[in-house]
Amino acid sequence: MIVAGVDAGSLTAEAALVDEKRKLIAQSVVLMGGCSLAASEEALKAALKRADLTLEDISYIIATGCGREISPYANDRVTEITCLARGAFSLYPSCRTLIDIGGQDTKVIRINERGIVSEFDMNDKCAAGTGRFLEVMANALGVGLEEMGQRSLEFSEDLQISSVCTVFAESEVISLQSQGKAVNDILRGIHKSIADRTIGLLERIGVEEDVVMTGGVAKNVGVVRAIEEKLGVSLLIPEEPQTVGAIGAAHIALQKVVAAKGPPSMHNND
Ligand SMILES: Nc1ncnc2c1ncn2[C@@H]1O[C@H](COP(=O)(O)OP(=O)(O)OP(=O)(O)O)[C@@H](O)[C@H]1O
Ligand SMILES: [Mg+2]
Repeated sequence: MIVAGVDAGSLTAEAALVDEKRKLIAQSVVLMGGCSLAASEEALKAALKRADLTLEDISYIIATGCGREISPYANDRVTEITCLARGAFSLYPSCRTLIDIGGQDTKVIRINERGIVSEFDMNDKCAAGTGRFLEVMANALGVGLEEMGQRSLEFSEDLQISSVCTVFAESEVISLQSQGKAVNDILRGIHKSIADRTIGLLERIGVEEDVVMTGGVAKNVGVVRAIEEKLGVSLLIPEEPQTVGAIGAAHIALQKVVAAKGPPSMHNND
């Protein structure tokens, strides 16, 4: 039996296929977001193709992410907070705090020893401190998203970005550049400001180790190091940090199918 989880995010969509033994069969990340129907469909198709399966092979599908309500084929919908927590706990049973930074949201979640969400918080509607903020800054500096993390580790001057709003921070970055400041130093300032925002959210829910980081921004080593420095804690990062919500959704799907079948009979009369 195989079940699926689909996470339709604001910038990317992911799918994960899991078998009855909770083994991950296939996963996909498609750069097609907008919380859309087409994106979650594409992600599911890509994962099915990878596993050489079709939709008919899937027993149950749970959708999550901002596009969950319109995801096609979904049998049920579950919030991202619940799916992220379940996914992170399945990968790291020692996870007690989770940081997920995606395109438009930063979420911080406390998880108890049974894998249940005990507390969470999110950024307000503002893009500052999210992946979108990083994209605007990378664009302003003419640096690729994939290289900005590594470059920021090669800083020499410790710069501060003081604006908290994306629009003002962009002007600040352009102004620092025109003052002749080095790009790597500005990048480090940007990553530190993301870390400050994240720590602000974490302070509201409290931090307990182990701390796991997920979402596309976990691929940015500059942000990861800046958070680790300020928190004084090492972060655990899955090999594929973008599919954790989809994996959690698939685990919940499996639980639903198993629960619907009912407990195995105590008396075997056969
Ligand atoms: N290879 C990479 N290197 C560095 N950063 C990356 C990389 N890939 C993605 N990102 C970052 O991850 C962000 C997207 O994250 P993610 O895919 O988790 O978003 P999402 O789930 O669509 O958004 P949300 O959960 O907020 O709706 C991008 O804005 C970018 O900053
Ligand atoms: Mg997401």
